[in-house]
Amino acid sequence: MTTITVEKTQPQVPVQLRNVVRQFGQQRVIDGLDLDIAPGEFVALLGASGSGKTTLLRSLAGLDSIDSGQLRVPKARAAVFQEPRLMPWKRAWKNVILGLHAPDSKARAVQALTEVGLAHRLEAYPATLSGGEAQRVALARGLVREPQLLLLDEPFAALDALTRIRMHRLIIELWRKHKPAVLLVTHDVDEAILLADRVIVLANGKIAEQLSIDLPRARDTGQAGFQDIRARLLGLLGVEVDTVVVAERPLSQGTVRRFAHG
Ligand SMILES: Nc1ncnc2c1ncn2[C@@H]1O[C@H](COP(=O)(O)OP(=O)(O)OP(=O)(O)O)[C@@H](O)[C@H]1O
Ligand SMILES: [Mg+2]
Repeated sequence: MTTITVEKTQPQVPVQLRNVVRQFGQQRVIDGLDLDIAPGEFVALLGASGSGKTTLLRSLAGLDSIDSGQLRVPKARAAVFQEPRLMPWKRAWKNVILGLHAPDSKARAVQALTEVGLAHRLEAYPATLSGGEAQRVALARGLVREPQLLLLDEPFAALDALTRIRMHRLIIELWRKHKPAVLLVTHDVDEAILLADRVIVLANGKIAEQLSIDLPRARDTGQAGFQDIRARLLGLLGVEVDTVVVAERPLSQGTVRRFAHG
């Protein structure tokens, strides 16, 4: 049985997936996946290439279907991908409100672009924007829809290191202000720990591991506990780390809470 429920009425709806299956031919990419995301929760999704992260995100965004299971998502969703996907012939502000039918849409575009630091680039065409600026336009296009669920598929992967740090700060600032639930797909373990409340690892079509990240914000890679979490996550991803000894800590003292396998 397949159920996709898009909530229209409730002001805040969590994401809830039960026994979700998505397959392409004989290949079961998502294989009985269960996942809950609380309103306002920031979740990072790690997993090997080809493990189904984008497939999952596309289903949550409503861009792809599922074959069976239950999937419950809020109506107000927005997705940002690795590449900004802007229309080259439309100015920045027009890209932001593409498909949005609201009487005050220009004002909303201006507000969203201002929030991402691009008030001075409203009239710019995509070809004249830097990679980071174009990605901020894509983010503004998401924001203008006031999403309760913001889906981010490696949105910073193509950016240089400094721009990525700025984008991390921006995303946290926007998340704190607008409080959407966020699902961020990334290959960068540090990025996941820096940003998320919880990190989940996708393997064999299911959530294989989860870690709660209780580090105080604003986070940095040098803060106490960071490297322990990093080593544990890399271990879960099958990467050997020989520089850090990772100790199991009691729940009450630890920064890491390990969940049962999903
Ligand atoms: N439309 C499709 N038709 C057939 N196979 C597909 C389709 N979309 C995805 N797949 C396959 O599903 C698997 C998972 O793909 P997906 O893009 O979700 O992986 P991913 O975890 O996002 O990988 P990456 O980290 O490389 O982005 C891959 O084997 C891919 O080839
Ligand atoms: Mg992908």
